[in-house]
Amino acid sequence: MAIPESLLRAGSLAPSILSADFAALGVDVRAVLDAGVRLVHFDVMDGHFVPNLTIGPAIVRSLAPMVHGSGAYVDTHLMVERPDSFIESFVAAGADSVSVHVETGANLHRTLARIRELGASPGVVVNPATPLASIEEAMLFVDYVLVMSVNPGFGGQEFIPEAVDKVRRLREMLPPRVAIQVDGGVGRENAARLIGAGADWLVAGSAVFGGGDPGVAAGVLQGMISESVGPDRR
Ligand code: DX5
Ligand code: ZN
Repeated sequence: MAIPESLLRAGSLAPSILSADFAALGVDVRAVLDAGVRLVHFDVMDGHFVPNLTIGPAIVRSLAPMVHGSGAYVDTHLMVERPDSFIESFVAAGADSVSVHVETGANLHRTLARIRELGASPGVVVNPATPLASIEEAMLFVDYVLVMSVNPGFGGQEFIPEAVDKVRRLREMLPPRVAIQVDGGVGRENAARLIGAGADWLVAGSAVFGGGDPGVAAGVLQGMISESVGPDRR
């Protein structure tokens, strides 16, 4: 099911399960859902587009009922060379939004249209060194743009500070209905700055699951995000 418009621009935390305890994934996801999280971020890597292998549709299928049962949504970030080959299986497994990298190249319009046709929200992703000009046309066909604030492939990397200004410039380019998601190195130190620059969803992996109680960490971050969102977006 596509992400509702009311949630798209609301100012939300999207915990990335990449840094969760894979021996207790259900417990970790339950903890952030109980803390009020509305979006759970799944990082899909194929070992080609990025030098790492992670989550496939089977993990989405196992966790999606729990996420949906809490009134939350499954957000899938495809860091794969051939997204077209996987879109259907992720949506069938329960993905509500699917984002694909502009750097994957060919036929992006067709890919984004296919995601929408399958009933999910399409998103386009830009890597740190990819100019915003490369999504000038694609942004007309998406519900959100994901700005990478690390080079994709691994959790726990350092935030690239230039992402803040990129978000600011992107907000000026985008139609108001299109949301901005930021992913990589996000935590308490930069959450308010990113929301102030115009970001709507902040993805955080290690800041939520990197130690301590993930529910508490998610609650603190979501609180900071809600406070930083202006009254017009509350
Ligand atoms: C990076 C992934 C991110 C990342 C987030 O390739 O797309 O979602 O795992 O993790 P942190 O918050 O630890 O940077
Ligand atoms: Zn991600």
